[in-house]
Amino acid sequence: MGKRRKISEKTVRDSRFPPSLFIVYLVVLFLMAGIHTGLLVGMEKRGWGGLVQTVIPILYWMAVAAGLTIFTRQQIRRTYEEPMHRLAEAAKKVSEGDFSVYIPPLHTSDKLDYLDIMLEDFNKMVGELGSIETLKTDFFSNVSHEIKTPLAVIQNNAELLCREELSEKQKGYAETIYWSSKRLAGLISNLLKLNKLEKQSILPERTDYDLCAQLAECALLHEEAWEKQGLEFEADMEDSVTITADSELMELVWNNLLSNAVKFTEQGGCISLTETSDEHEIRISIKDTGCGMTEETKKHIFEKFYQGDTSHATAGNGLGLALALRILQLNGFEIEVISEPGKGSIFTVIIPKHKKEVSGSDE
Ligand SMILES: Nc1ncnc2c1ncn2[C@@H]1O[C@H](COP(=O)(O)OP(=O)(O)OP(=O)(O)O)[C@@H](O)[C@H]1O
Ligand SMILES: [Mg+2]
Repeated sequence: MGKRRKISEKTVRDSRFPPSLFIVYLVVLFLMAGIHTGLLVGMEKRGWGGLVQTVIPILYWMAVAAGLTIFTRQQIRRTYEEPMHRLAEAAKKVSEGDFSVYIPPLHTSDKLDYLDIMLEDFNKMVGELGSIETLKTDFFSNVSHEIKTPLAVIQNNAELLCREELSEKQKGYAETIYWSSKRLAGLISNLLKLNKLEKQSILPERTDYDLCAQLAECALLHEEAWEKQGLEFEADMEDSVTITADSELMELVWNNLLSNAVKFTEQGGCISLTETSDEHEIRISIKDTGCGMTEETKKHIFEKFYQGDTSHATAGNGLGLALALRILQLNGFEIEVISEPGKGSIFTVIIPKHKKEVSGSDE
């Protein structure tokens, strides 16, 4: 039997390969050596020739070696590799935010070893992380909800103040309050939406609708902004194409991509919206001739609160693309980004026509 050691309250085996296993190996090898001698004596008695006496022991030891190798391999797989693979899979799920992972112990409580204790500690750790995450998101959504009402009051009053007969300076103050509270309200509503999508407390309500009509409507919403910036806008779409998705959430995606294109493109630039489809997929590209992104920026743009271009950091909060990616994942769609600093960016959303079933979670 293996040695036992006290870990916390429990006494557990501290080896997965106990000495008894090696004793089994030793006994088997002795036995095989005995059979070898028996074989030699038997062949001698029967008067078999020298060649047979050489070949039979070689074949015999080849069979013994193969048997022992297969047995050892199975032992290693059963004892180490399988539990380690289970642990690796569970750790991957946790790193992706799934805290519902649980790895059952390998042995009953009277035969625990240090690997069982490690799995038990892993389960405990994941449980703790899950409860912290729940506490954080619940606290966050409660506080955000409470902030929304007084913020709306501030925004309304600042708007009313702007209409009053005030000096230029006072009007300036009122406008600053109005725009700041509007930005804060936008941040809170985006954060609440993202929080709900991440917690899956809102699941996409998929319906069939015309994507081209939606894209045209969203583009029109940004007309004032691109005209103000003197940008050229081009659209190339089919007459209509029907997709199955949550249209309200998809509207947020197009608006985020279009507003980014307008925001990050200098005066005189060009934005183009292209929609194409074949029998497999529909591709929607939003291309701009703006500032573009470095490889480093590109790696982080889908992270919450990440803003690569600090000169535009006052506009927005870096949540648009995080929200867009989550919505696309929930609908089972993909997004590709091509960008070059100083030349511009192309964001392409890919909608498969024969969609695989999407479970509410990521990937
Ligand atoms: N079309 C684009 N051209 C250049 N950089 C872009 C473009 N779109 C996104 N980015 C980069 O990605 C970052 C994250 O974009 P995201 O939409 O998430 O945030 P934001 O636009 O700064 O704020 P918000 O969307 O919350 O208003 C941006 O700050 C910018 O650095
Ligand atoms: Mg944005």
